[in-house]
Amino acid sequence: MSFLSAFLYDKCMISAEEACLKEWRQGLLKQVHGHVLEIGAGTGANIEFYPESVIRLVLSEPDESMRRLLEVKIGNSALKDVTVSSASAENIEANEESFDFVVASFVCCSVTNLEAVLNQIHRVLKPGGSLVFLEHVAADKGSKRRRWQNRMNPFWRKLAGNCHLNREIEKSMVSAGFEISEIKRESMRKAMPLVRPTIRGVAVKG
Ligand SMILES: C[S@@+](CC[C@H](N)C(=O)[O-])C[C@H]1O[C@@H](n2cnc3c(N)ncnc32)[C@H](O)[C@@H]1O
Repeated sequence: MSFLSAFLYDKCMISAEEACLKEWRQGLLKQVHGHVLEIGAGTGANIEFYPESVIRLVLSEPDESMRRLLEVKIGNSALKDVTVSSASAENIEANEESFDFVVASFVCCSVTNLEAVLNQIHRVLKPGGSLVFLEHVAADKGSKRRRWQNRMNPFWRKLAGNCHLNREIEKSMVSAGFEISEIKRESMRKAMPLVRPTIRGVAVKG
């Protein structure tokens, strides 16, 4: 991604952030504690919501331009023990069972190999550890919105950094061995209609 696209990312998201995303991020992240890994941290939209109960935070972001903005945001935050990694989520650089929580927001839509990513998250979580997720997903099968998601997906992927409009992410999490312990489905307000269906919640390592 160019530096300009990375810079524009926050600008494009601002209406949805103000309308609902900030509230959703805060609600999800207040429960995380201990050793935490966030994959695809982007420009750091979650940073302000990590509670003090987080002992160690690893933020991974493979895109250099996004990472530069992330590092600026970290510098302006009160976070103490934080490490930034350039690893992709298909190849997480961590020992097995080393994190209490993994956080993923609007990442599962964009990764190259979702199955590999979920297997990696499962590997690095401690037994009973949780994946905290906020993702835009495929609309209901057979719906008009789903048909448009399917139609527009090839173009959207090229425009938006491999973002898929029609991934059934909840199903993939279950196939990877996660148990969904909490899930909310809500429309992302002030967002483009094809990315409005979202899920957020907690998936426990089964
Ligand atoms: C839509 S942005 C979301 C950023 C941030 N998580 C948020 O909530 O605003 C998707 C991010 O996922 C990152 N990404 C794409 N493919 C990835 C991969 N294979 N592993 C880790 N991150 C990836 C992109 O570089 C980008 O920063």
